[in-house]
Amino acid sequence: MKKGGRGEAAALRWTRRRFLWVLLAVALLYLIFFCCEFPFLFGWVDSTSYTNDTSASRGHLGGALQRRRQPLDSEVEKYEKEAPVRPDKLSLRVTPFIVPAMSDHRAVRRRRISLEVSGLIFRPADDHGGPLSELRKTAGAAWEVGGKLLRDLQSGQLAASLAQAAEEKNGTEEACPNSISLSGTEFRERGRLMVLPCGLALGSHITVIAKPYPAHAEDDPKIALLRQGEQAVMVSQFMMELQGLNTVDGEDPPRILHFNPRLKGDWSGKPVIEQNTCYRMQWGTALRCDGAKSRADEEAVDGLAKCEKWMRNDDDLSKESQTSRWLNRLMGRTEELSVDWPYPFVEGRLFVLTLAAGPEGYHVHVDGRHVTSFPYRTGFVLEDATGLSLKGDIDVRSVIAASLPVSHPSFSPKRHLEMSAQWQAPPLPDEPVELFIGILSAGNHFAERMAVRKSWMQSIRKSQNVVARFFAAMHARNDLNVELKKEAEFFGDIVIVPFMDSYDLVVLKTVAICEYGVNRVSAKYIMKCDDDTFVRVDSVLEEAKKVPGDRSLYVGNINYYHRPLRNGKWAVTYEEWPEEVYPPYANGPGYVVSSDIAQFIVSEFEKQTLRLFKMEDVSVGMWVEQFNRSTPVEYVHSHKYCQFGCVDNYFTAHYQSPRQMLCMWNKLRAGKAECCNMR
Ligand SMILES: *[C@@H]1O[C@H](CO)[C@@H](O)[C@H](O)[C@H]1NC(C)=O
Ligand SMILES: *[C@@H]1O[C@H](CO)[C@@H](O)[C@H](O)[C@H]1NC(C)=O
Repeated sequence: MKKGGRGEAAALRWTRRRFLWVLLAVALLYLIFFCCEFPFLFGWVDSTSYTNDTSASRGHLGGALQRRRQPLDSEVEKYEKEAPVRPDKLSLRVTPFIVPAMSDHRAVRRRRISLEVSGLIFRPADDHGGPLSELRKTAGAAWEVGGKLLRDLQSGQLAASLAQAAEEKNGTEEACPNSISLSGTEFRERGRLMVLPCGLALGSHITVIAKPYPAHAEDDPKIALLRQGEQAVMVSQFMMELQGLNTVDGEDPPRILHFNPRLKGDWSGKPVIEQNTCYRMQWGTALRCDGAKSRADEEAVDGLAKCEKWMRNDDDLSKESQTSRWLNRLMGRTEELSVDWPYPFVEGRLFVLTLAAGPEGYHVHVDGRHVTSFPYRTGFVLEDATGLSLKGDIDVRSVIAASLPVSHPSFSPKRHLEMSAQWQAPPLPDEPVELFIGILSAGNHFAERMAVRKSWMQSIRKSQNVVARFFAAMHARNDLNVELKKEAEFFGDIVIVPFMDSYDLVVLKTVAICEYGVNRVSAKYIMKCDDDTFVRVDSVLEEAKKVPGDRSLYVGNINYYHRPLRNGKWAVTYEEWPEEVYPPYANGPGYVVSSDIAQFIVSEFEKQTLRLFKMEDVSVGMWVEQFNRSTPVEYVHSHKYCQFGCVDNYFTAHYQSPRQMLCMWNKLRAGKAECCNMR
């Protein structure tokens, strides 16, 4: 009995203790829950209160949130110091938490300035009675249409009519389909192009069923160089490309993947597969698979070799290997099974090719066998791959794309713009500045502008000495103009030149850059660059200062005795340019002139005596030459204002994609003026 009672008491104590433990654990859990939940709770309340505030436009999310949030003093600084070296990750963070609060609420409000418009005066009619040049006539019309559009934009009428149109459309916007399938005929009818409205995502795959044509005699000098008396080279090849169709209107789309099997006709005389990327006519380094398996020390892509082995015609090892195989068998040794597959593409034979997007790169399987993998390159992302094109000697039977992203919004500026106060431009300094940088841009280059803001423009954000502004004109698409206006008002770094944008009229933006540099900021030096130019501002300024201060200067990558192209896509007619050679001129992506030259350009323009030519860089060369007749100009040439891409220790680098810009900026911040080539 006693024993049993003691046992019971012990059991009771034990139960009590357990109860206490459970209670403690619950209390602890509650505490943890409370600590973790509260910040989120506040965040949530914050954003909901914002949602109720309908007066703020959606684009100004960052600003609206900031006004509500108590700013943390050192957040801006902390952010800048601790920004990770890989910028791409930044944009993945949730916006409300990365937005560093502006320490001053008024600063945000002050940003809501009205649209800044170029002060350039354009008189379309010629008071001088002389004949009007063709370009001036075009410019006159563009100025008139653009001016009207700008007034509608400023009055808000454009936005209103756009909203009405959207309402009528009832949100019948084409959604992102999960899969697309085209027969060979449909594919041909669409210009051998399959549009992928929302790009690709991880896991997307495209299957192509096609048959390579037999080789044909090739006489295109670009493909096969023919020597006299030689027989024409027999060529069979095709190109499968993923292109960034939405990126920029009116330009060759970037080739995010260029997959080029050559069955016959390659210079090596053997079948190869070449792969590459191309951004604004600049090719990266090709990956060539010639039948040898990639070396083991070469990095694999998702564990797969970049190039798989296939049988090469000159592989004459077969006899030897057969003998050794026999020997092995005789000795009862287990044989390592190795099969030599043939080259995957054969003239006149159907193949099934699958292109899949893996975590690290593209994988190509042909007839179920892995053939090659191509790692993603800096500057290109899956969602940008909005078109698949198949060209060359190939008969396409069907194309099927599946596992496509369904929720991704199609091309929209909001995807590119990061409405955060830290990227806003400070107001213009009251004092004259040393350097003004005019960045030639176009209405729809949202991603390019954002990349400039987040990269080299950061180096001048706190400077009183250097100012940079984008110059854009009116776009033919009104929704883009409305977006551009919002962007301009938020960031305060865009100057609208009031004409309808067109490729032949970019020269007007150059004149507007001169006007702004002279009249608005009284800059000593005026630089022009493009929105895909990366500028090392310190070095550019340093170079300009090497010329004595009182001299007129023209600095850049200067071309002497260049001749106009008289045929082809970029032909210049004799009406446009009657002379045999161009004057010495600095390449367009980055050059500097002194303010007296800029002043001369503006006043000649406004007097209508400035000769306009569609190539803006040649035009500047011409104007400087004219200026040089009365005042000597110091011409300073350096190849470091790189025109074709990037060289190490560059002053400016050209053709840099948004991601490459950020990559270069990180390198520069680490003290290295190095290129981020697409490798
Ligand atoms: C818009 O939607 C309403 C109701 O959903 C429908 O009755 C109307 O026909 C739609 N209009 C258009 C232009 O699609
Ligand atoms: C500039 O003017 C000087 C003096 O007239 C002349 O010698 C020189 O060749 C000119 N430079 C160019 C590039 O036209």
